[in-house]
Amino acid sequence: MVNLRTTIASLNLENPTILASGIMDEDAGSMLRAFNNGAGAVVTKSIGIKPKPGYPNPTFVELEHGILNAMGLPNPGIDEFGEEIIKLKKSNITVIGSIFGSDVKEFLILAEKMQEYGTDAIELNMSCPHAKGYGLEIGTDPKMLNEITTKVKAAVEIPVFVKISSNVSDIVKIAQAAEDGNADGIVAINSVKAIKIDIEAKMPVLANKKGGYSGKAIKPIGIRSVYDIASKINIPIIGSGGVTTGEDAIEYFMAGATAVQIGSGVYYRGIDIFSKVCKEISTWMENHGYSKMHDIIGVAVQ
Ligand SMILES: Cc1cc2nc3c(=O)[nH]c(=O)nc-3n(C[C@H](O)[C@H](O)[C@H](O)COP(=O)(O)O)c2cc1C
Repeated sequence: MVNLRTTIASLNLENPTILASGIMDEDAGSMLRAFNNGAGAVVTKSIGIKPKPGYPNPTFVELEHGILNAMGLPNPGIDEFGEEIIKLKKSNITVIGSIFGSDVKEFLILAEKMQEYGTDAIELNMSCPHAKGYGLEIGTDPKMLNEITTKVKAAVEIPVFVKISSNVSDIVKIAQAAEDGNADGIVAINSVKAIKIDIEAKMPVLANKKGGYSGKAIKPIGIRSVYDIASKINIPIIGSGGVTTGEDAIEYFMAGATAVQIGSGVYYRGIDIFSKVCKEISTWMENHGYSKMHDIIGVAVQ
């Protein structure tokens, strides 16, 4: 029997599939459903200091090979969302609290509150492709990313992961800035900056014009990103971008990821995608003579 257990920093996960931020994680009930359908851990939606309504519609459009969204980080604010985490933590679930802020001070307040509510780790979202003032402005600046990571790490005891973007000229520099700030892991990648034009209306489809592209189409970009950083850093990498099957996950592991997050895949294959992907990983490993995760991580990195 294949052992899918994996360890990321101090988190011991039953399996390496994690619900990605912003997908079916509005409340404790939906995160619990992901867990009950096989997720090894769940990431909350990205939470800020104050309630935020998000952008006007349309915010979401399904394209041929992926999903384009510009939700605008809608969220109830940390104080209200805290109740959902407290409810969720009554079940024995590994919860990673995703946070976004406009400066160091906001990230610190949010991280401390997430820890207080009982999350098992923090994910710093510094890579949202469409959040003005909260996303890539921070995530493309290694100095600022390093400062936020360093200060958050000094303020909390739980592991801190930094979610980075492929929309940068040198992803290695960004990942190293996070590692130098004592991050416990890197999440690569967030959705990719993109635009869809309605040629009849002669205008962008999304109200925000630009959005983040996710799903199958971005998998090679995610794989490339993980591959590029795997040999340059010594902290675990969580792969994200286009995972819909067990073989997609294996590709991420071979590129150097210790676990994968699944977001858009939930729309394609349903909430039980986590147990389906785990079964597919096990079958592939069995058929290829592998008995533990450790043996495939990074094998393709040359
Ligand atoms: C509708 C939607 C909302 C998202 N919201 C967030 C978010 O709040 N915070 C975040 O870090 N990533 C967010 N993401 C990005 C996903 O967490 C994930 O990193 C990305 O979609 C790539 O993975 P996938 O191809 O499996 O979807 C969102 C993605 C989608 C499709």
